Amino acid sequence: MSAEVGIGLIGFGWMGQAHSRAYRAIPTYYPQAGVMPHLAVVADTDPARVEMAKANFGYREGVADWRAVIERDDVDVVDITAPNGLHQEIAEAAAAAGKDVFCEKPVGIDPNATAAIELAARKAGVITGTGFNYRWAPLVQYTKQLITDGRLGELTHYRGRFFSMYGRDRMGLLSWRFLQEEAGYGVLSDIMSHATDMALHLFGPIKRVVSVKEIFVKERPMPKPGSGTHYDRGEPGDPTGTVTNEDYVGALVEFENGARGTLEVDRSIFGPQSQMAYELNGSKGAASWDHEKLNQLQLYLPSEQPVDGFMEVLAGDAFPHQGNIVPGGGNSLGYEDLKIIEALEFLKSVIARKQHAPGFTDALAVASVAAAMVRSWESERWEDVVSLRLD
Ligand SMILES: NC(=O)c1ccc[n+]([C@@H]2O[C@H](COP(=O)([O-])OP(=O)(O)OC[C@H]3O[C@@H](n4cnc5c(N)ncnc54)[C@H](O)[C@@H]3O)[C@@H](O)[C@H]2O)c1
Repeated sequence: MSAEVGIGLIGFGWMGQAHSRAYRAIPTYYPQAGVMPHLAVVADTDPARVEMAKANFGYREGVADWRAVIERDDVDVVDITAPNGLHQEIAEAAAAAGKDVFCEKPVGIDPNATAAIELAARKAGVITGTGFNYRWAPLVQYTKQLITDGRLGELTHYRGRFFSMYGRDRMGLLSWRFLQEEAGYGVLSDIMSHATDMALHLFGPIKRVVSVKEIFVKERPMPKPGSGTHYDRGEPGDPTGTVTNEDYVGALVEFENGARGTLEVDRSIFGPQSQMAYELNGSKGAASWDHEKLNQLQLYLPSEQPVDGFMEVLAGDAFPHQGNIVPGGGNSLGYEDLKIIEALEFLKSVIARKQHAPGFTDALAVASVAAAMVRSWESERWEDVVSLRLD
């Protein structure tokens, strides 16, 4: 018997559509998991998107006002894929109504908002999840296992980065993402959240940081009504507006386990495209992985190898989840497959009534590191990471 879970999704843009495809895919890729999501209701302020959600994705109903999602009895999980500035009001209302909540990263528009949301969910006792999807790549899960089993030895160095191309086009529109008022911080919230979560997941807590930031593209064309997602562009001569949050953040970090590292993210860089990556070293070996080559892991385990040097491991059905999606070795997964794994694991936690990871606790840990980076921008010095957890 499959457990049915009613989904109410808010914001049917890129992520809303990706999450919806993931929910639909779960019973087909994981027939034995006993998880049957029902797309109960979608909310979006754009009527064309609501219509597409019903006609093409099979949502039973669509509404313009997100409050109508939270009121419904057939919604067990509220999935927030709306712009960052809306997350807090929606997440707190959903938790207060006793709904389990999945919220895309960054959970809060700034670190303090994340702390407030985490407190509201914790007090309400609801299950939470957040979209740190790169954790779910099968070869990342394998790297974590190598670390846990001690096969890389004592951890010494970590270099994490997320270099994305989405803001490199100077004609890319001034969408909500580039505005502090609507998105909060820039890459600090948008992609440093992913890079920090990965570092915390693999290497454990960060003790202190020193950080810098920069805006490389200072003006962008203004969006026209109905446009303004990640990849829409303007024309030469269009009126422009000022970018108000950062394109780049870099940091030196010290982990509590004594390891040293760097975290670096940029949305306006030429060359890399979606390089969410890590290179890590321990006293017995090393590993490096890059989302652009999601199905390859560079691994160095000198005491276990016939020759010295990095070896390439190809993803295959020997690794977690991979065989559910595609059998055999060397058959590739892509970005949206990570969303399927993420959605499945979250719904399994919801059904089991057990707190989920990554959830709002993990988002709070990331936000606490982000707050230390912001303090370091001001002080131009090392700053200790202090937990923002509220009681
Ligand atoms: N985990 C990841 O890899 C990843 C990738 C991209 C985006 N995200 C996150 O997902 C969230 C959404 O990003 P996106 O790229 O899908 O944005 P998007 O701009 O493509 O979509 C946002 C949608 O929300 C709708 N919306 C706006 N105001 C609304 C309101 N008041 N009520 C209901 N709907 C409303 C818009 O019409 C649009 O359809 C952001 O928090 C972002 O940080 C995560």
